[in-house]
Amino acid sequence: MIDLLRKRRSIRVYEDRKIEPEKIEILKEALVRSPSSRGINPWEFILIDDKELLKKLSKAKEHGSEFLEDAALGIVVCGDEKRSDVWVEDCSIASILAQMSAQSIGLGSCWVQIRNRMHNKDMTSEAYVQGILGIPKNMKVESIISLGYPAENKRGVPKEKLPFTKIRMNG
Ligand SMILES: Cc1cc2nc3c(=O)[nH]c(=O)nc-3n(C[C@H](O)[C@H](O)[C@H](O)COP(=O)(O)O)c2cc1C
Repeated sequence: MIDLLRKRRSIRVYEDRKIEPEKIEILKEALVRSPSSRGINPWEFILIDDKELLKKLSKAKEHGSEFLEDAALGIVVCGDEKRSDVWVEDCSIASILAQMSAQSIGLGSCWVQIRNRMHNKDMTSEAYVQGILGIPKNMKVESIISLGYPAENKRGVPKEKLPFTKIRMNG
């Protein structure tokens, strides 16, 4: 895992290449292996590989979602707020595990924040995504993980540049 973390970067440019079904299965397994508070599993995931839908989702925000249009896959991460008061944490864990699992099988990914973001001045990104995919209102939309074969080469952050000053020991 530490090797994956050392190399991990957000990848927003992708090859025009499909993800093999075996790899999609691995991603699905990683999602449902995510731990959740009290094992409630309040999340649901919608996998999108339809080009038209990806194009629509790429407009979820004015900035920071555009690269979804060229992704091979988007994973819409939703959580049921009626089932768990910590659905945000549970969905965040699933999102990052999907990203790290993707990296372990040669894929690049980037988190697209949907929760607390706006599609335009009148509509939340969440309502926009719910409308496109027919997601009920109680299923909150936290993120969309954008995935594909990397078409940009980014180096991991060198150790000397890491913010170790953020860490204290014993207070
Ligand atoms: C909670 C969260 C939300 C993010 N939202 C977006 C986003 O909406 N659009 C985007 O392009 N990147 C997004 N990112 C990626 C960050 O910008 C990126 O992780 C950060 O700049 C560090 O770069 P790195 O991942 O390459 O190390 C998000 C990351 C996190 C953890």
